[in-house]
Amino acid sequence: MDNNNTLDAYWMGYTANQHFKAHPRLLEKAKGMYYWTPEGRKILDATAGLWCVNAGHNREKIVTAIQQQAATLDFAPAFQMGHPKAFELAKKLVAITPENLNHVFFTNSGSESVDTALKIALAYHQLTGEGRRTRLIGRERAYHGVNFGGMSVGGIAVNRKLFPNLLAQVDHLPHTHDLARNQFSLGVPVYGVDKAERLEQILQLHDPSTVAAVIIEPIAGSTGVLIPPAGYLQRIREICDQYGVLLIFDEVITGFGRLGKPFAADCFNISPDIMVTAKGLTNGAVPMGAVFVSDKIYSAFRQDDPMAINFYHGYTYSAHPLACAAAIGTLETYQEENLLYKASELAEYWQHALHSLADLPYVIDIRNLGLVGAIELEPRKNEPNKRAFQVYLDMFEQGVLVRTTGDVIALSPPLIISKPEVDQIIITLRQVLKQLSS
Ligand SMILES: Cc1ncc(COP(=O)(O)O)c(C=O)c1O
Repeated sequence: MDNNNTLDAYWMGYTANQHFKAHPRLLEKAKGMYYWTPEGRKILDATAGLWCVNAGHNREKIVTAIQQQAATLDFAPAFQMGHPKAFELAKKLVAITPENLNHVFFTNSGSESVDTALKIALAYHQLTGEGRRTRLIGRERAYHGVNFGGMSVGGIAVNRKLFPNLLAQVDHLPHTHDLARNQFSLGVPVYGVDKAERLEQILQLHDPSTVAAVIIEPIAGSTGVLIPPAGYLQRIREICDQYGVLLIFDEVITGFGRLGKPFAADCFNISPDIMVTAKGLTNGAVPMGAVFVSDKIYSAFRQDDPMAINFYHGYTYSAHPLACAAAIGTLETYQEENLLYKASELAEYWQHALHSLADLPYVIDIRNLGLVGAIELEPRKNEPNKRAFQVYLDMFEQGVLVRTTGDVIALSPPLIISKPEVDQIIITLRQVLKQLSS
């Protein structure tokens, strides 16, 4: 069997399988800020894996916690049964989430967290006598994972186009990306709060009393790092409050310190009714997601009959012992090293370093907030996405892992990154961008 055939058994998601299998990029081990390929090449991780390895790779406390847990309790049924670490983790998590979010439902991924959150929102209104509230509002250029709810409220055409039977009764806000007015903004862009007013129009169009929830990524990551304009999220919150619509924040990438505070909700000083997380929850070491809800929502599910099940929803692997152990080890690591706040210390250096690339060919925008960055390139004529993908391939050859989405190079390094490592990313980008053929 040739190499191509050997690799072909694995159908890779969100991957150009034919190209990959002809030119595989493999990672064999990792430590701290670095990956190593099977040939022993050292690769600086400028993406925290996939926005998840916030504390850096293979951290000792997390590794030990998982190993010990696997040897102690491999699995416990998640329904009508529990294990101590699940309750310990829940308590530790609600101590760091925004003040009003005191209860947590465990899942195994961001996608499951999103669909869980949408189901909670719909069920909440049914249980509180507002059963007419069945509509969900998402946003253009939003990514909320790959399950049917998340795809429906998501706003990425290619993700949706083979699936004509998405959820009904969904509408979308416009995205906030506005190159003409906000090009090369430092941090939060100035223009675009007006885009929030579209929510009011959508609510009026459908009758606000039919709308259950609005779901928003505080920063849209997967569609090119779209930073919310000043005042935009606050205005969305106000409109939701005015019409009794629940606000769901999808913090799958912004959660756990990415923006210099534990959550984007803290950063923008907004209390969502429901908050969706995953990724940084276990530092990427074991799959896990978590949905946080307010007391108001949790108590709506309370039953008069104590023997009655509160919510007909859950996963076999909800609060899996290995994931709980990994998450506790992760939280301890974050706390010991102040990582939930660390991005704020580096944010200015990071911003300055990124924007130093503004003079390079094809660079049409640079965006940043906390330890998130994006460099948008002018697309090649009739070949969208190819220019940024070339940068991604060249960067990997030069020993730095970046990510691309469309013609945007997205950066989200582990929060343990040092200034010299920031410099290495920027120097390599400069070199690669400078040598880009047309
Ligand atoms: C904002 C957001 N929501 C949901 C998801 C889906 O998470 P997962 O891939 O863990 O299902 C992602 C993944 O990148 C995301 O960025």
